[in-house]
Amino acid sequence: MKIVVIGGFGFVGRAVTDELRKKGFDPVQLSRRNGLDLLNLGDAKSRLESIKPDIIINCAAHSGSLHYITEYAADVVHDNSQIILNLYTIMKEVCPSAKIINPLSNCSYPGNSDIQRESEWWCGPVHKSVWSYGNTRKILKVVAECYAIQYGIRSINFLVPNAYGPGDSTDPNHTHALNGMIIRMHKAKQRGDDVFEIWGTGSPIREWIFVRDIARLFSLVIDKLDSQVDPINVAQEKGYSIKEIAEIIKRLLKYEGRLVFNTEYQDGDPKKILDDTLFRERFPDFQFIDIEDGIRQTIEYYRNALEG
Ligand SMILES: NC(=O)c1ccc[n+]([C@@H]2O[C@H](COP(=O)([O-])OP(=O)(O)OC[C@H]3O[C@@H](n4cnc5c(N)ncnc54)[C@H](OP(=O)(O)O)[C@@H]3O)[C@@H](O)[C@H]2O)c1
Repeated sequence: MKIVVIGGFGFVGRAVTDELRKKGFDPVQLSRRNGLDLLNLGDAKSRLESIKPDIIINCAAHSGSLHYITEYAADVVHDNSQIILNLYTIMKEVCPSAKIINPLSNCSYPGNSDIQRESEWWCGPVHKSVWSYGNTRKILKVVAECYAIQYGIRSINFLVPNAYGPGDSTDPNHTHALNGMIIRMHKAKQRGDDVFEIWGTGSPIREWIFVRDIARLFSLVIDKLDSQVDPINVAQEKGYSIKEIAEIIKRLLKYEGRLVFNTEYQDGDPKKILDDTLFRERFPDFQFIDIEDGIRQTIEYYRNALEG
């Protein structure tokens, strides 16, 4: 079975690749870094034609911080739409019987939902702060469905909350939120800072997923890509406030400064967690890592990465 992980050197793609290798598969990692640019249809088609994959795990995206995806909204919507259209065009032409797994970020849920249920995914606009990127996740689902109807291409789409874990960038401006807090607090500790500032009240509650849990789930489903519900939440239905996360990181890092909350910055929505009913029905035995263990492993990764 030939598996390709597109975006395979990114945060999620790398974790998926590592997990597949652990399971004895031999996935091919692809991205612009080694010559697969999905914005270039002709070249990308030749590359995938030479592999003829059976499974594609699609971790390619042009994403970034809330600030970034707003400032570059047009580029973000253009590139992601193009990546999606080109990828499905290529599949139709070179590997129509391949299956594809798409992790969709849960920022594509309606902006006003605190418990995110699959049945309500289409029931309202995404939040303005993620307008460009969140809507491209909806485009991905629409394209997947239309290519299933006309060409029989099989996709499975997972709705995934904010990820954290080892393997992400070491630049806090380019990491995912929880990882960024670990980097900043690690540096605050090294400098001996007395206070660590967090933007907002710290009260918003969010659901988090360890990146290796996403990878374990994908490696479980590659043989049996089917789902009655699509997209399906990858959910624990469990959230932690930003303050709770900061306190766990502070304790595990043994940082002795004080956490201060700068309330001049606005909080986002008070709560965003994913309903886990359908996930539990579909994957009753799947165990997620405990958040403290996950944060401990992430701190270890950053200690090594930042201190060399
Ligand atoms: N991280 C999270 O918290 C999270 C949560 C839920 C869902 N997801 C989803 O998981 C997927 C991957 O996210 P991530 O966090 O791993 O992002 P990431 O770290 O930014 O990785 C994205 C990857 O896409 C590749 N890429 C970008 N443009 C490309 C192009 N034109 N052609 C080919 N490859 C291209 C990049 O590599 P090059 O620059 O080398 O091309 C990079 O490897 C996304 O769909 C995201 O929505 C992520």
